[in-house]
Amino acid sequence: MDKAALIRAAVRNLPNSYAPYSHFHVSAALLCEDGTVYTGVNIENAAYTPTVCAERSAFFRAINEGRRRFTAIAVCGGTDGVAGAYCTPCGVCRQVMREFCGPDFAVIMAKSEDDYIERRLDELLPLSFGPEMLGDREPESGV
Ligand code: THU
Repeated sequence: MDKAALIRAAVRNLPNSYAPYSHFHVSAALLCEDGTVYTGVNIENAAYTPTVCAERSAFFRAINEGRRRFTAIAVCGGTDGVAGAYCTPCGVCRQVMREFCGPDFAVIMAKSEDDYIERRLDELLPLSFGPEMLGDREPESGV
């Protein structure tokens, strides 16, 4: 799948974002190594802290369905759903990516299909802490 198609999947699902408090609507589309795409939106909560970001929504859907290997994620959105700036993943979402993805996992931050920036996960989360730090199991990633 090309980047434009992944961005398109994120943009198409943006209306499903539930953000009545911040009005900052975000959508993500996660590409698995097998070609499957999982979308996710941010889901806010009246108690605020239960809010989950779009990126984690997408990851948790995919993990729930047994996917473990990922290639890229496209993220879009902004205030009132207008992508005025590139939407960069928060630190918590970067750490969730770190759990399941390698250093070259591609994070595509898009205003539109042809206006985006792309960074590797190891650029967004340098000197990171990951699963291989905890004991002797084989690392799933090497960020
Ligand atoms: N948010 C995301 O869903 N992803 C990001 O990359 C940044 C922030 C959400 C969380 C919250 O619902 C709203 O945007 C404002 O922080």
